Amino acid sequence: MPSRIADIKAAHPDNLMARHFNNDYFQSLDPAKQKRLLKVFASGLENPDSQMGAYAMNPDDYDLFAVQLDPMIRDFHAIAAGTPIAQKHDWNTSALACDLSAIDPRLSDVSMRVRVGRNLSTFPLPGAMDKNQRIALENIVVMAFKTLLDDAEFGGRYLSITPGSPHEIDAAEYDQRVSAHQMFKDMSGDRYLNVAGISGDWPYGRGMYVSQREDFLVWVGEEDHLRIMAMQRGGNLNALFARLHGGLQRLQGVLPPFATSPVYGNVTSCPTNLGAGMRASLHMKLPQLTSGGQNLDGLKSEAKALGLAVRGAGGEHSAAGADGLVDISPSARLGVTEMEIMRRLYDGAAKLWEKEVAAGGGEHDDA
Ligand code: ARG
Repeated sequence: MPSRIADIKAAHPDNLMARHFNNDYFQSLDPAKQKRLLKVFASGLENPDSQMGAYAMNPDDYDLFAVQLDPMIRDFHAIAAGTPIAQKHDWNTSALACDLSAIDPRLSDVSMRVRVGRNLSTFPLPGAMDKNQRIALENIVVMAFKTLLDDAEFGGRYLSITPGSPHEIDAAEYDQRVSAHQMFKDMSGDRYLNVAGISGDWPYGRGMYVSQREDFLVWVGEEDHLRIMAMQRGGNLNALFARLHGGLQRLQGVLPPFATSPVYGNVTSCPTNLGAGMRASLHMKLPQLTSGGQNLDGLKSEAKALGLAVRGAGGEHSAAGADGLVDISPSARLGVTEMEIMRRLYDGAAKLWEKEVAAGGGEHDDA
């Protein structure tokens, strides 16, 4: 095993599992713990091009294997060794006005989304669940959604893709929801999730809650037990965050407790999502900065300096659209509050937009 990891480290220096693999620590573990840790690392071992290369299987993996995982987490989130991490939360986002239309009226129609990953403390994380547990989790969550169905603010529908579920939708509706960027893609095609066991028993226990206004959604059974999100068109990030927070609080009141860590805040399958567990993003058209969507490299490095990550509008690992439509989002999840994430997105978007306009761009009829 150590020699295999050394090979990965040499060929893929950005694989954080390989970079930080601690052989002395590994050898000090009893065989049962070694086996557990290898399961956490399975995806990064099978997929040497991984960036993180690890998924937790149980919330307490983060405590139990802290000696090994903490350096990887700090490296990804750029938190120096020795600096204390104590994840703080601040949802008081109305304290700072972040309306993109104040930057430029042309930005009053961008597509905004923000999601948080949450896991129930009463189940293993998705990589370690069996089929019965996946179905049981969906049933518990559906009971909680029942309290929302007729709500004036958050009322909506639950759509299941579990074969035989009373809420089951057909393949055509599933496809339509995927192309509308609401529902998650078929996970069984994802080699990282497959090796981790996260996509196991597909599509059992999977589904989505969608509000009548289609601006509040909850994914069930994806990479985390729950991905709770708000999605709106417009420029007002404060309204978007308030919508998410309102829905999150409603759900929290009717669900078993979420898995949290005193150090890392919200516990997620992937160590890249710990902390606020939040990903907030904007779909912006930046054709000048991406050579008409042909090349994201320059934009990626400009965005990185602003603490933002760039991807195509079609999700993780996708390319930009021909119109230069890209997804920008603050990279930091851990050690930053929700309020700070919103501020970084707003400030970063303002700077990128300024550059786009200076380069001769600035049309924004976001479709
Ligand atoms: N496991 C993959 C890697 O290590 C994905 C990491 C981040 N993405 C995610 N969806 N969690 O590169």
